[in-house]
Amino acid sequence: MFIESIEESKKNFKISDKIEIFDTTLRDGEQSPGVALTVDEKIQIAQKLDNIGVNTIEIGFPAVSEGERQSAREIAKLNPKANLCGLARVIPADIDALLMSDLNYVHTFIGSSPLHREYKLKMSKEKVLEKAVTAVEYCKDHGLTVEFSGEDATRTEIDYLIELYKAVEDAGADKINVPDTVGVLYPAATKTLIETLKREIKIPISVHCHNDFGLAVANSLSAIEAGAQQAHVTINGIGERGGNASLEEFVVSLKVAYGIDLDIDTTQLYNLSDYVSKVTGIKMPPNKPIVGENAFAHESGIHVDGILKNAATYEPIPPELVGHSRKIALGKHTGASGLRSKLKDYNINLDEDQFCNVYDEIKKLGDKGKTVTDADLKAIAVTVLGKVKEENIKLLGLTVVSGDSVSATATVKLEIDGKAKETSKTGVGPVDAALKAIQDLVKDTIAIKLEEYNIEAITGGTDALAEVFVIISDDLGNLSTGRATKDDVIMASVEAIINSLNKILFIREK
Ligand code: KIV
Ligand code: ZN
Repeated sequence: MFIESIEESKKNFKISDKIEIFDTTLRDGEQSPGVALTVDEKIQIAQKLDNIGVNTIEIGFPAVSEGERQSAREIAKLNPKANLCGLARVIPADIDALLMSDLNYVHTFIGSSPLHREYKLKMSKEKVLEKAVTAVEYCKDHGLTVEFSGEDATRTEIDYLIELYKAVEDAGADKINVPDTVGVLYPAATKTLIETLKREIKIPISVHCHNDFGLAVANSLSAIEAGAQQAHVTINGIGERGGNASLEEFVVSLKVAYGIDLDIDTTQLYNLSDYVSKVTGIKMPPNKPIVGENAFAHESGIHVDGILKNAATYEPIPPELVGHSRKIALGKHTGASGLRSKLKDYNINLDEDQFCNVYDEIKKLGDKGKTVTDADLKAIAVTVLGKVKEENIKLLGLTVVSGDSVSATATVKLEIDGKAKETSKTGVGPVDAALKAIQDLVKDTIAIKLEEYNIEAITGGTDALAEVFVIISDDLGNLSTGRATKDDVIMASVEAIINSLNKILFIREK
């Protein structure tokens, strides 16, 4: 059986007793284009990383700015259990900047590959080696723990790489790191490289894998199989270009697939991912393993049926292990048992005919390519049950002023639970202004956020019918869709928002 051959293959692994997590979200992760974290955000992330139990946090590159040094000092004041490390080139000014940042662990590096030596540094092999050794000695003289990287190690001549790493080992380095700077490794090559280095180097070996080919986690795991004692990772796999190996994928793979528990509190991973995503502005694709919104979502009838009988049928990882939750999604693939379980969750009792009507309605929406949220299901079920769905919010009036010399302003009048209320707001355009006015009018009842806004012209011409589709979320994490079709785009937008608002208020009554 295949499962037995997996166990058999594990016998060839040379896995170390002590595997450490070196998190570089605050350094390589922050080097993602467009990302710049404030001191406070860095402190928050460092605290969360320390709470989950990573061994080392690379807090940044102290030579870069005073802000970087300040955040290092503030993080050091937290007295974390994790080691705090900073990046430095093999130059005294960088190492001095790190020493001024209250750090006692340096990750120092110099380009080692022919490309880096010849084009970037314009240095001979001998010069690179001499600079590396001098820097390691300087760091050691200042009492630092030293991790040394030959940048672009994986495109460096192997004999020279060994010579360089042996030289820094002799100079007192505590660990060597092997950066796959442009992600060119693949698992079998990683294994050979790490095994080769292990035969030559006595100090612990770490890997730093980039994800240009989508292989960063696989390569990091392969390095561990070959005896590497540490992996550099980032939350959500953020980092230069395609990013780095993702912490959550690496740690959970080790735990679930390899049976190696690193003492990381995996139950915080979803929250941590969400926080990093918010402060960096890098949204996770829904299908991102472990932390994506679809990582534990099921729609197809066959899968939902299996999940309801035994979750392990289609969930290799229990969602609670990573602090996520299971979601049964509704759509054209929904099966009867999935729908029944949803209706049960909402205490909605339908007879067989009513059930078939709701089922058909959901399939019809799915066939039209529409999203079906829980709020939609509740609204459909209530309609089928013949109950009159009282709308809490009604539009009584809308006036917009817009143009190139005035700020777009919307005046919205709503009836909320029988009372009329009116306000005016400005925005980047009339729809934005109207949304802001609605948000303001309902703020005592509910805080809403527009998650998605789509507009489609159904007919042609300037009087075309426009269909607006929105998804809004509330402060409790509920999602609701809203639709409206009108020949006036702004009216259609406002009606779609109010439609979704009524549904979300309705679902909150559950
Ligand atoms: O990817 C890389 O090579 C790095 C170095 C600074 C080690 O991040
Ligand atoms: Zn890197």
